[in-house]
Amino acid sequence: MYSTDHLDIPPLLSAAGTVRLPGSKSISNRVLLLAGLSEGTTVIHDLLDSDDTQVMLAGLRTLGCRVEAIDTETGFGSLSISGLGGRLDVREAALFLGNAGTAMRPLTAALAMLAATQNGCFELSGVARMHERPIGDLVDALRPLGCRIDYLGQPGFPPLKLLPGNEPLDLSVPIRVRGDVSSQFLTAMLLALPLLTADQPAVVEIDGELISKPYIEITLNLLARFGIKVQRDGWQRFVIPSGSRYQSPGSIHVEGDASSASYFVALGAIAATEQPLRIEGVGTDSIQGDLRFIEAARSMGAEVSGGAGWIEVRRGRWPLAAIDLDCNHIPDAAMTLAVMALYADGTTRLSHIASWRVKETDRIAAMATELRKLGASVVEGADFIEITPPTVWKAAAIHTYDDHRMAMCFSLAACNALAGQSPAVPVRILDPKCVGKTFPDYFETFFSVAHTRPEWIPVIAVDGPTASGKGTLAGVLSDKLGYHVLDSGVLYRATALAAIDARIDATDEPALAALAEGLDINFKGGVVRLGGEEVTSRLRQEDVGLLASRISALPQVRQALLRLQLSFRRLPGLVADGRDMGTVVFPDARLKVYLTASAEARAQRRFSQLATMGLSTTLEGLLADLQDRDARDQNRAVAPLKPAADAVLLDNSTLSIGSSTETLLNIWSQRSSFA
Ligand code: DC
Repeated sequence: MYSTDHLDIPPLLSAAGTVRLPGSKSISNRVLLLAGLSEGTTVIHDLLDSDDTQVMLAGLRTLGCRVEAIDTETGFGSLSISGLGGRLDVREAALFLGNAGTAMRPLTAALAMLAATQNGCFELSGVARMHERPIGDLVDALRPLGCRIDYLGQPGFPPLKLLPGNEPLDLSVPIRVRGDVSSQFLTAMLLALPLLTADQPAVVEIDGELISKPYIEITLNLLARFGIKVQRDGWQRFVIPSGSRYQSPGSIHVEGDASSASYFVALGAIAATEQPLRIEGVGTDSIQGDLRFIEAARSMGAEVSGGAGWIEVRRGRWPLAAIDLDCNHIPDAAMTLAVMALYADGTTRLSHIASWRVKETDRIAAMATELRKLGASVVEGADFIEITPPTVWKAAAIHTYDDHRMAMCFSLAACNALAGQSPAVPVRILDPKCVGKTFPDYFETFFSVAHTRPEWIPVIAVDGPTASGKGTLAGVLSDKLGYHVLDSGVLYRATALAAIDARIDATDEPALAALAEGLDINFKGGVVRLGGEEVTSRLRQEDVGLLASRISALPQVRQALLRLQLSFRRLPGLVADGRDMGTVVFPDARLKVYLTASAEARAQRRFSQLATMGLSTTLEGLLADLQDRDARDQNRAVAPLKPAADAVLLDNSTLSIGSSTETLLNIWSQRSSFA
């Protein structure tokens, strides 16, 4: 997950390949709650690991459910949950539910009923935005049953206090639930009512028109998997028969998130010009209503095929067709249509989307504001939005309002070159980590199937003599920007190490070049493997460094490592450190830094570094070695160490890493299109 302040997405040209989607948020949180309320143990496969499921899981644990990871290899993978079986173990608790509507609403209903019938007392709260999201209609539906619920802040909104009941709950009259603000109120009721229906039926009637019906279908479908067969009369009346009680299905699989699929369906419709974009984890057999997004994408021009557990998308009609669509049936995925509208041949109108205003943020207002920043013309109304594509696209910093869908949607604006924008512009996503709500690895997944010209991928080159602090600086810069990092010295060191192991002479240039060309090197989380073997600390040894310095003077070795170095230029960007990053390997780097420090300061740094590794040396010896190496690196015939003509020179003998970073990030931001 990118936890940077912002993420700059370079202009993109095409998309192809395969993505695997994380589990559906809607299914994950419903299944977690149902498993938590059932008797016995439920094993859940492919559960979504995200902010919203974490808060639900934490809530269930607090209530006394036993949660065990079954497969730690794949992160969350599979979990087993031992449910409460309808009995409260913990009678008093405070639950913090973040900004997860799919946790707040159903837990309110379930815990209000449990508190009333079993003398419990619970407080439910969330982040500030959660306290602005309505819950009054659900409370109004629960109170007539005899549930006692107090508002701890604003009436109608969380935080809430759920109290013991004064008398038995009364199911004799139908429960009335409002259907036109959020379908989650009805979902919450339906998920919780089986707590009360062991020997009496429960009847729910809807006031107003029920919105987002496909989400109710997911709820009914999952209740059926847990043994509850809800009878329904159109969308007006729902009956849970007497004798209904939760029965764990034993194990259950969570399908991929159909709303998350929408971003890749859209990407395919816009940019899968040659090969298809394949989406795995959700398919045409899905129980999620958001899959109907596909019909909308098709009507805009996408070519979509699919089967059980997969979808394939290609670009069809181009430009996309502008549409006028009632989006009541796909409230979440419809946001993706708003961004596809940027690539359409006229004005797109999306209507019946009033629920957008009470989601993670006021999504109509947010969408309108940010689309305008890109240059689009937007008209917004109480429950609709109209979008006309930009004539000239602008490089915009997109505010995401702590709303995962805003961040994911706007990644698609990076395809503007395909809409004829020239020069193409990048897109800046502010606070990209907000995707953690439902799809923590969204951007990594997006970049794995997005393609562009290498020269459009920004590079920061950091060159300088040994022990000047290049590696540390490159690491900090890449962390701040979310870029890949290339420590090119490691490639020379690895070649040297391989030469030592293979007993190749330091003067045998063709053999060394062949070794460099076929280097089987792999980097993962700071660990370097060579031919499968971990060599991270061996690479740092002085003898390896010295040999690296010698063989790096050989032209054929340098040439052999060139392609490997260029392959590190990947989306969304690269920070590369070495000796010739700015002069030879990436001469078009947007920022070139030449980092130096006095020989004494560098020798002292290396001395301390080696000391912490428990290796003993003398300062004098190190200083002499270092001066030797400087001379060799600077005087060799090919790619000698020297600043590029347009490099920023930085002597950090007396600068902290923090201040060096700040200086360079300032220069970087002045050079970006967003300045
Ligand atoms: O940065 P370092 O000490 O890990 O690099 C080891 C040797 O590799 C160094 O003495 C010079 C050589 N090198 C190079 O010639 N060109 C690069 N881009 C990086 C390193």
